[in-house]
Amino acid sequence: MAMRDDLLAVLWCPDDHGDLLDDGAAAVCTTCGRRYPVLDGVLSFLYDADLPELDAAEMADRDNEAEWYDSIWPEYIDRIELPAHAEKMGSPHGVVLDLGSGPGRITEYLARELHYPTIGLDYSLESLKLLAKRCEGLPVLAVHADGRALPIRDGALAGATSGQCYEHFRPEDRRLVLQECARVLAPRAALAVTNLNYNLTFRLWKLKGNEGAKEGDHMYGSNFYYVRLTPKEFRAELSEVFDVEELIGIRNFPVRSISVALEKVGGTRLSGAFMRFMNSKGYRADRWLERIPLAKHVGFLLLAKVSRATPLKVASPTAVPAGPAGS
Ligand SMILES: C[S@@+](CC[C@H](N)C(=O)[O-])C[C@H]1O[C@@H](n2cnc3c(N)ncnc32)[C@H](O)[C@@H]1O
Ligand SMILES: [Zn+2]
Repeated sequence: MAMRDDLLAVLWCPDDHGDLLDDGAAAVCTTCGRRYPVLDGVLSFLYDADLPELDAAEMADRDNEAEWYDSIWPEYIDRIELPAHAEKMGSPHGVVLDLGSGPGRITEYLARELHYPTIGLDYSLESLKLLAKRCEGLPVLAVHADGRALPIRDGALAGATSGQCYEHFRPEDRRLVLQECARVLAPRAALAVTNLNYNLTFRLWKLKGNEGAKEGDHMYGSNFYYVRLTPKEFRAELSEVFDVEELIGIRNFPVRSISVALEKVGGTRLSGAFMRFMNSKGYRADRWLERIPLAKHVGFLLLAKVSRATPLKVASPTAVPAGPAGS
């Protein structure tokens, strides 16, 4: 697989920041000669990384669930989330990054529908193999790397998205990731980033004694850390590094709960008809609700448009990263 020049040009050797050249099977550093192999269409900076135990365990769980994860998205969710991310990124001219891309539903949308040259970056190799397959023929490079130490040049990107990933970083890592994003974005370029919303429903759950409503170490049977943030908390964290331009609530209909209720009163035909409606037209009503301030308190996700401050608000943490940052 040949890597596109424009995509390879924004990357650097994490050891010494040297240029990378495509030799057909790897990206080779022109300074130190180190080879970063292409594995089933994925350029890997982590192929021989010696990871802290916690990272290795979380990564293994991501690898194990990659196929399942790729299968869980009903059409209406993609019809909401994919354009919502792209809109908040603005109109980038140049290479964009999809950070924590997983198997690539956002990456594919950016490249196929909007024709943006896109780097899909994740630390799950198995997820990226799926991404590489679904994005064959598109201007996409799948990059196996850690979001806390990006192998990307300063100021090289025209925009970035990160969907449903930020909430999986622990507090100290969330700051690192934001700093890395700010470092690699061009001045004023935008990042569209989501976090699970600590919305009214989850606050109620917490009041009823459900500790996991706010934060926990296991999700959907896997061992991942996650945190739900209030709009105020999310804005405060983002503001430490970025200028926050917008913050909205998305996925405002509790579609699954409505579907379950409809099934109880009218059976699977009624709930099936409702889901078909949501897939074909109902998602538009959900998107319309994003405009009202209440959405920030009911939406399943918070979506922020943040832009890189000039000058950077905080110094980059990774002058010459030694490898993936620990947790
Ligand atoms: C819930 S998935 C979201 C995938 C995709 N953005 C989407 O919306 O379908 C979260 C992703 O973040 C990735 N991730 C978690 N920690 C990461 C890290 N330190 N570096 C890179 N990716 C990471 C996981 O491997 C996983 O694929
Ligand atoms: Zn090098």
